[in-house]
Amino acid sequence: MQFVEDHIATAVSHDIPVWDVDPYDVEILKNPVPFYAELRERGAFVYIPRYAMLACGRFDETREVFSDWERFVSSRGVGLIDFSVAKPWRAPSIVLEVDPPYHTRTRTVIARALSPRAVSELKDSFAAEAEKLVDELLEIGEFDAVGDLSEAFPVKVFPAAVGLQEINKRALVDYGAVGFNALGPDNELRRTGWAKASEIVPWITAQCKREALLPAGFGATIYAAADAGEITEEEAGMLVRSLLSAGVDTTVTGIGNTIWCLAENPGEFEKLKADPKLARPAFEEALRYTSPVHSFCRTASLDTAVNGIAIPKDTKILCVLGSANLDERKWQRANRYEIERKPVGHLALGVGIHGCVGQNVARAEAEAVFTVIAKKVGAIELVDAPTWRPNNAIHALDSMRVRFLKH
Ligand code: HEM
Repeated sequence: MQFVEDHIATAVSHDIPVWDVDPYDVEILKNPVPFYAELRERGAFVYIPRYAMLACGRFDETREVFSDWERFVSSRGVGLIDFSVAKPWRAPSIVLEVDPPYHTRTRTVIARALSPRAVSELKDSFAAEAEKLVDELLEIGEFDAVGDLSEAFPVKVFPAAVGLQEINKRALVDYGAVGFNALGPDNELRRTGWAKASEIVPWITAQCKREALLPAGFGATIYAAADAGEITEEEAGMLVRSLLSAGVDTTVTGIGNTIWCLAENPGEFEKLKADPKLARPAFEEALRYTSPVHSFCRTASLDTAVNGIAIPKDTKILCVLGSANLDERKWQRANRYEIERKPVGHLALGVGIHGCVGQNVARAEAEAVFTVIAKKVGAIELVDAPTWRPNNAIHALDSMRVRFLKH
């Protein structure tokens, strides 16, 4: 058996086009749209020799692989490393990186903590915080929309909703980025992330413990499940860790990317101002258009086929969500940002049993921010060209200086 990037190099069919591309090339990560287009153009699947993996980027096939948990498992890792043959950098997530029946048990607990009811109770406080922040930014006028807005808002409201008593903005944002970089190959991004991990992980681990959490919040609901015997105390800590891994950097990216979309498309921003109820759809369309999680993997658990294409057991498959969300086969005017589109079924939040369990929280945060922006901001001007922060799984801005003009 041959291994590449800590997974099994399977003998895939000669019919699958071979493409000697590096999806983790920094230039592609910063500007992935041409890569997405070529990936779709070359075929339903391509074989990427340097990583001995398949990649898919057309909507139908990507959706099929990403959602069929029996044929394409998550328990062997959603990055390049196959946990059945190599050790991950940290203990795997007990919700994202497991399959049923174990997944069903942990997912039930985390879904309860993040239930629509629990999230709706936070709406007023999210709206108040969003208003305070946007008022401050309007006074400042010119600022970095990444650090001062898209990071500042989730870091203000989300850890408090979990029940954290101590806030360390950098550690919270960077922890997500380190985890997402770990999903890629052994490249500079993954290595730099791991070098940071030794500082961040002890702090995060301490925050996941029962005694670090307030008696109310998502974390407390998870520990209540431990008290009821549904999960162990250790599993409760692991689920709180999942919230901190998956709930900060993703939302930061989703909010930042939406501001970018609105700044780049002033006509769409005018529509939002005219009808602030479009706050949610504007966010949803930005998720489709920019895919904050650009790609995650699955591993074939058996010899199978997708759309008539044979996929051998053990094959790692890169599911390029960012490409599927721009597939012209699925979306009309796919390469345009249109806030009235209603992009039902986009893959930015996943699909099937692993579909984002925190999506209500992400939407509630975004709705709070973009409703107040719609009501109070007259125009969003880019001061200079935004820069993107390459990450092996996340498509995020690094900095974006903007000016908010008052109504
Ligand atoms: C815009 C923001 C967000 C995006 C783009 C996003 C994206 C995703 C995606 C694509 C998946 C599917 C992963 C897979 O199938 O392998 C997922 C799952 C997950 N997300 Fe989110 N997410 C966001 C916000 C959040 C928030 C706020 C939380 C926590 C409150 C969260 C917690 C999770 C967890 C725990 C899972 C694993 C669920 C499972 O495996 O059953 N996410 N997310």
